[in-house]
Amino acid sequence: MGRLNGRVALVSGAARGMGQAAARIFAAEGAKVAICDIVDDEGKALAGELGDCALYQHLDVTSEADWDAAAAATVAAFGKLDILVNNAGIGTLVPFDEMTLEDYRRITEVNQTGVFLGMKTAIGPMTGAGGGSIINISSIDGIVGANSVLPYVASKFAVRGMTKAAAIELAPRGIRVNSVHPGFIHTMIGNPEGTPNPDGRALLDEFTGRTTPMGRTGEPEEIAKLVLFLASDESSYSTGSEFVADGGMIAGHRSPGTDL
Ligand SMILES: NC(=O)c1ccc[n+]([C@@H]2O[C@H](COP(=O)([O-])OP(=O)(O)OC[C@H]3O[C@@H](n4cnc5c(N)ncnc54)[C@H](O)[C@@H]3O)[C@@H](O)[C@H]2O)c1
Repeated sequence: MGRLNGRVALVSGAARGMGQAAARIFAAEGAKVAICDIVDDEGKALAGELGDCALYQHLDVTSEADWDAAAAATVAAFGKLDILVNNAGIGTLVPFDEMTLEDYRRITEVNQTGVFLGMKTAIGPMTGAGGGSIINISSIDGIVGANSVLPYVASKFAVRGMTKAAAIELAPRGIRVNSVHPGFIHTMIGNPEGTPNPDGRALLDEFTGRTTPMGRTGEPEEIAKLVLFLASDESSYSTGSEFVADGGMIAGHRSPGTDL
C-alpha cells in the first residue's frame, strides 16, 4: 500500500532537481502526478518514464493562464487535485550593488508570484476534492539572510509568510499549507542551461563541508522524503509550519575557542 494511493499531485518545476525527485517518490508511493515545467523535453521524458501515472504539462509559474490550463489538464486526466508542490524557483549570485531592478523583478515573479498563483489556482479543485495539501518550497534563505542573493532571500521570506497566511485561511476547507526550507542541495539551480558543472559541485561540497554541522551537501531525494511526509496524511495535524532540512546549517553558531 503506497503512502499516496489514490492521490493526485501537481508539481511545478518537476523536470529537474528536487521537483523531479518529488515527482518520482510520489509516483512510487501510488500517486498520479502532473509534471509541470518550462523545459518541455526533460519534463516529457520524465512523464514518459513514469508511465500512466504521470502526465506532462507546460507551466510557466508566472502565467495565470498556464496555471489554469495545468490544473484543468490534471483534473481532466486524473479526476481531481489533492496535492500541490510549489517547487519551481530560480536564483543567481549577484552582489547587491550590481543587482538590477530587472533581476529583482524576475526572481520575485517566479519565486513569489508563482507560489501565489499556484496556491490560488489550487483552492477550487482542492475544495472540490474535500481538502488537500500544499507544499511551498522556500529555503533556509527564507529564515536567515545571505549575501549576493537579496531578491532570492526576499522571495523565500515571502513564501514562508504566504504559507502561514494561506494556512489560516484555507484550514476550514481542509487544505493544509506548509513550507519546506532546504539547505544546500545538489541540483542545477543557478545553472538553468542544464549543463552539469563539476567545478560548481566541487565548490559547493567544499563550502558545505566547512560550514554545515553534518559536513556535506544534501541530495534531492532527502528533500523529496520530507515533501512526501507533508503530502501524505502522516502530517495530518501540521499546517502553517516550517520544515527545515539543511544538515544543521542554521541550527546556530559555533562557540569561540572550541575545536569544531
Ligand atoms: N538547490 C538548492 O540548494 C536549494 C536550496 C533551497 C531551496 N531551493 C529551492 O528548491 C526549489 C527547486 O530548485 P532546485 O534546486 O531543484 O533547482 P533546479 O534548477 O534543479 O530545478 C528547478 C526547476 O524549476 C523550473 N523552472 C524555472 N523557472 C520556471 C518557471 N518560470 N515556471 C516553471 N518552472 C520553472 C526549471 O526548469 C527546473 O526544472 C526552488 O524553489 C529553489 O529555490 C533550492
